Amino acid sequence: MYCLFVGQHIIELYSVDSTNNYLINLSKDESLVEGTVVVAKEQTAGKGQRNNHWYSEANKSLCASILLKPKLDVTQHFLFNMFISLSVCQAINNYSLNAKIKWPNDIFIGDKKVAGILIENSIRANKIEKSIIGIGININNNISKLPSATSLAFFLKKTPDIQELLELIFKNVEKNYLLLKQKSSIINELYHQNLFKKDGFQKFLKNGEYFDGIIKSVNENGQLVVEVNGCLKFYNMGEIKFMF
Ligand code: BTN
Repeated sequence: MYCLFVGQHIIELYSVDSTNNYLINLSKDESLVEGTVVVAKEQTAGKGQRNNHWYSEANKSLCASILLKPKLDVTQHFLFNMFISLSVCQAINNYSLNAKIKWPNDIFIGDKKVAGILIENSIRANKIEKSIIGIGININNNISKLPSATSLAFFLKKTPDIQELLELIFKNVEKNYLLLKQKSSIINELYHQNLFKKDGFQKFLKNGEYFDGIIKSVNENGQLVVEVNGCLKFYNMGEIKFMF
């Protein structure tokens, strides 16, 4: 499939503080075309979720941000997150890997993180007007000092081509974006098909206490639905931590 708009306008940088920041600034110009991508070989102040720093070595990870202008109702913001996680997961699985989406939107292989996503939306009149989708994928980083992370090269036994992987991401984002706009139930279905530990036991930590539960689903508000001692419980992002 040839991409019609995602990645048709690409800004390639060697070094930048954060591709998300760079694209946020550029997108203040309303005429910036939807599907514009900023890619960098190195980020000096990469941003992660919950104000964390995203650490990546130069040339050893994929760092990219995509501009979309979805005009979706804010009530669908988690569906929008689902579509992005799904697209990144599918792009990685193109290499015959078994990557999964760890709620809410991390990409895992086995029980280690291989990719992270940071979506920064601007809302106007209850619509997601602009979305800056930041994607970081560990390609061949030194993972020996990062016990909870892995890289694609570790599993593939060779370093995948970053350009090829980027194009796979663009294709999947574009394909799923059309699905999201036409028939969003498919996105929800596919997200669940790829959900890490779905119907499996997982250990969690909440307010200093450990508990086990069976991951059932993710609801439309983005809460993780877990069966704990026979009862369904609903957790918000940041409320529980997965324990391995
Ligand atoms: C996370 O899992 O905490 C999210 C990590 C997101 C990292 C990417 S790398 C490209 C883009 N620019 C940033 O500053 N962050 C995102």
